[in-house]
Amino acid sequence: MDRLIAYDRLAREDRFVRMRARDVGELKIAQGLPPFPGLATHEQMRDRVHGILVGELQAMEGAGRTVFDFPDAPWEFTMDIARQVWDESRHVEIYLGLLDHLGGYVGEYPETTILWRCACAEDAAARVAGVNRGLEGLACDVFNQLVHIARKLGDPILERSVDFVLADEITHVRMGSRWLNELTRGDADRRRKAIEFQDSIDERFNLAGSRQDGEHELVAISIAKDARRLAGFTDEEIERLVKSTQRSQVY
Ligand SMILES: [Fe+2]
Ligand SMILES: [Fe+2]
Repeated sequence: MDRLIAYDRLAREDRFVRMRARDVGELKIAQGLPPFPGLATHEQMRDRVHGILVGELQAMEGAGRTVFDFPDAPWEFTMDIARQVWDESRHVEIYLGLLDHLGGYVGEYPETTILWRCACAEDAAARVAGVNRGLEGLACDVFNQLVHIARKLGDPILERSVDFVLADEITHVRMGSRWLNELTRGDADRRRKAIEFQDSIDERFNLAGSRQDGEHELVAISIAKDARRLAGFTDEEIERLVKSTQRSQVY
């Protein structure tokens, strides 16, 4: 497959600052900050919302790339993913507004392209497993927690905006489950590889123990069991994810 867009060539206005994820993490640690922003302070909240904003931007670009990369996929697949591009573009607008609402601005924090790179799997089934189920499952965790914290802070703008985005992400996960099943029907090997790719993404985004099954206020990312059930994850899958996060903490 031609890689027409290298990860470091995504179109951006000058105000965006791109850095390698590893460099950002190391610099934060050197400054005595956690590598992944929590939600305890206003500053951390802006950092987190900025990270989500660039994640939405890359989700839009990733879905666009999926429409382009698989011209032979079923028409309904292409339509679903094209609708997702539209959804993600609205999410970008919503998070631009929320960043402004929190007193932040684009470029206040660096952008890493780790999500985009995960969105470049060669196989369409692996892509919907990794992106729609892995990364957008993570989005369900992050957004559900943010809704909860915003409610506690008494910030209805943040609470409702993120809740509306969460509703979309739930449909994206469901879509991922549907197409994972349909694209791999009768091909156990393709299905196994796609699920392994999703597992590798889940493992990576446990972020060395940052994601846990715990209280919203106490953990960096809390696993949204109810939202994940709504999104079509089975109890068994949710249990497996919880177990894998416990394993990550040991590393
Ligand atoms: Fe999104
Ligand atoms: Fe999404």
